[in-house]
Amino acid sequence: MFHSFVFCCFCFWCLAGVFGDAVKSVSVMEGDSVTLNTDTELQTDDVIQYRFGSKNSLIATINRGTGIFSTQDERFRDRLKLDHQTGSLTIMNITDTDSGGYQIRAKIIYRFSVAVYARLPVPVISNNSSSASLTSNCSLVCSAVNVSHVTLSWYKGNSLLSSISVSDLSISLSLPLEIECLDDSYSCVVAYSFTNLTTHLNNTDFCQPCSECIHCCGSTEAVIRLALSALVGVATVAVLVYDIRPRKDEQQRRSNPHAD
Ligand SMILES: *[C@@H]1O[C@H](CO)[C@@H](O)[C@H](O)[C@H]1NC(C)=O
Ligand SMILES: *[C@@H]1O[C@H](CO)[C@@H](O)[C@H](O)[C@H]1NC(C)=O
Ligand SMILES: *[C@@H]1O[C@H](CO)[C@@H](O)[C@H](O)[C@H]1NC(C)=O
Ligand SMILES: *[C@@H]1O[C@H](CO)[C@@H](O)[C@H](O)[C@H]1NC(C)=O
Ligand SMILES: *[C@@H]1O[C@H](CO)[C@@H](O)[C@H](O)[C@H]1NC(C)=O
Ligand SMILES: *[C@@H]1O[C@H](CO)[C@@H](O)[C@H](O)[C@H]1NC(C)=O
Ligand SMILES: *[C@@H]1O[C@H](CO)[C@@H](O)[C@H](O)[C@H]1NC(C)=O
Repeated sequence: MFHSFVFCCFCFWCLAGVFGDAVKSVSVMEGDSVTLNTDTELQTDDVIQYRFGSKNSLIATINRGTGIFSTQDERFRDRLKLDHQTGSLTIMNITDTDSGGYQIRAKIIYRFSVAVYARLPVPVISNNSSSASLTSNCSLVCSAVNVSHVTLSWYKGNSLLSSISVSDLSISLSLPLEIECLDDSYSCVVAYSFTNLTTHLNNTDFCQPCSECIHCCGSTEAVIRLALSALVGVATVAVLVYDIRPRKDEQQRRSNPHAD
């Protein structure tokens, strides 16, 4: 019972592999390159066909015997690159119209679904302070115009501070950030699930660096510092007193041995 179940699973796995039933989804940003990988060394001297679109039209072929590669579709002219061992195909400078289904037809058919996303805009960090006061916090806003399917986030180093997402609708996103001073690598990242763009906050025009942050130490901090200093002082006195007393007793005892 269990064995036949395992065998069945194995068969399904075989079918999916051997007959290339699984469609591999690939996401890419406009202008970038994408490689459709067969993930195997093709054991054939035959002609391999590359097909594209709902009509599976022929876009390129390679004759493995002669090693001759030719492009059949003008749209892909000079934009295709081939791995002769694996038959993997690289499409360069992807455009919106390149999205859709691809097939690599050797002994078996490898299927791919390519989704092309618009180029990410560089996130822009700008001043969102309502006052020019130097002692107040630094208010910033990061924005990305005309985006969809993205997440916009503020990071401090590697830790996420805040983020906002948009699904299918193309809109402009903005995300505010309030910091006391510029003391670490703050950055704003706009991201698809598969790629992203980062803008680092190192514009000290917006926020003063923390090293020069003397007059912005809050009154609470001053009080805490004062309290700490007092505590350390008391502790020091206590230690000194504790340390000196027994010695005094000892000295007295030594200088006066006939006391008891
Ligand atoms: C990429 O394609 C676009 C239009 O499809 C073209 O304007 C641009 O020059 C191409 N870039 C490269 C590097 O080939
Ligand atoms: C930020 O904007 C406020 C209000 O417009 C302005 O008063 C302030 O000078 C600006 N700060 C910087 C560093 O540009
Ligand atoms: C917004 O993006 C769409 C497609 O991504 C584009 O057609 C449109 O021109 C863009 N609008 C602006 C204002 O950039
Ligand atoms: C600027 O800051 C105010 C609060 O001070 C906030 O309500 C507003 O959304 C911010 N602007 C942007 C573009 O986020
Ligand atoms: C200044 O920013 C810090 C950190 O974001 C925040 O905890 C604090 O409330 C802010 N202070 C004021 C006066 O907005
Ligand atoms: C940005 O992309 C890089 C490389 O693909 C990845 O390592 C990193 O985790 C991504 N960061 C975010 C915030 O998505
Ligand atoms: C900002 O800092 C990043 C890394 O900390 C650096 O790569 C980038 O060149 C800097 N940009 C400017 C305008 O100084």
